[in-house]
Amino acid sequence: MNKHILENLDLLTSALTSLSAQKKWLDSKWFYDNAGSAIFEEITELPEYYPTRTEVAILNKNIDQLQQYIPDGAALVELGSGSSTKTRILLDKFDNLNAYLPLDISEDFLKHSANDIAIQYPNLIVDPLVADFMSPFEFPTNYMDRTKVAFFPGSTIGNLEADKAINLLASVHRWDKISAFIIGIDLVKDTNILIQAYDDAAGVTAAFNLNILRRLNREIGANFDLAQFKHEARWNTEKSRIEMHLVSLVAQTVEIGTKILTFAAGESIHTENSHKYTRESFEQIANQSGWNIRKFITDEDDLFAIAVLSPK
Ligand code: SAH
Ligand code: AVI
Repeated sequence: MNKHILENLDLLTSALTSLSAQKKWLDSKWFYDNAGSAIFEEITELPEYYPTRTEVAILNKNIDQLQQYIPDGAALVELGSGSSTKTRILLDKFDNLNAYLPLDISEDFLKHSANDIAIQYPNLIVDPLVADFMSPFEFPTNYMDRTKVAFFPGSTIGNLEADKAINLLASVHRWDKISAFIIGIDLVKDTNILIQAYDDAAGVTAAFNLNILRRLNREIGANFDLAQFKHEARWNTEKSRIEMHLVSLVAQTVEIGTKILTFAAGESIHTENSHKYTRESFEQIANQSGWNIRKFITDEDDLFAIAVLSPK
């Protein structure tokens, strides 16, 4: 069957299931069609969105001390690589790397970014992998016995609930010849800073959130009226996470094929979780999934951390 039909079938099945739940939700991985990936890049430039510039600053400042975790000839495998912007900090420094495998679900965006990297780093083998990091995937056979360093910046781990985060950390731990895992972690902080980061004045995060409905309209024939939904960012203290919601402004029905969804005024679709960690809460999930923390490097305001993990 045609690849795009299968992908749309995946999206249709996932959206129908989650939107039929008593509390409607959507898997945040569906944000990342080509348009969603491009809007995410705009988010990274927003004054309110501190994670990107803070993580970049930590990497630049501490890149020398990361060198010791990069074995000669290793392959750098990046989960959720997006534009591969932060990766350039590593690639500029670690010329002993042999290969770079960016892995992402957003196919066109991944291929474009990987192509740019291949042009910019002609001595590096660049092998993009279109995959969902939550599902089992195979490395190309020539990477089976290659030493690997995993890189997972952006605090994308925060988009997973604890059990899923543990599963992912454990699955990376099972990779053949994995030697280190460099991972970005967003930290618990003042709630106002968090809310503003996820509800910016220019409305870019709102556009990112609403784009998921545009995608459902285009790819699975839904008929969401985007003007009838409002972006909301909420802090959930108990779960230590920012939640993004799309709140129905009126009582309305939405069709997806023959399925009719009913919304009460004020009812929301929960579209994303972004968990915020402390060193202790992150250490707990890392330890549970077979990792020791070798380094935990933060910025001076303790906004964000880069953790270096090694298998126990
Ligand atoms: N690493 C970049 C991008 C972060 S945005 C940065 O730090 O700025 C999150 C990225 O993860 C997107 O590129 C998105 O397409 C990808 N992604 C989200 N869920 C995914 C999944 N389940 N499998 C693979 N990639 C995923
Ligand atoms: C990719 N991920 C870590 C981002 C985050 O901060 O949770 C996605 C995002 N959602 C809204 N703004 C950014």
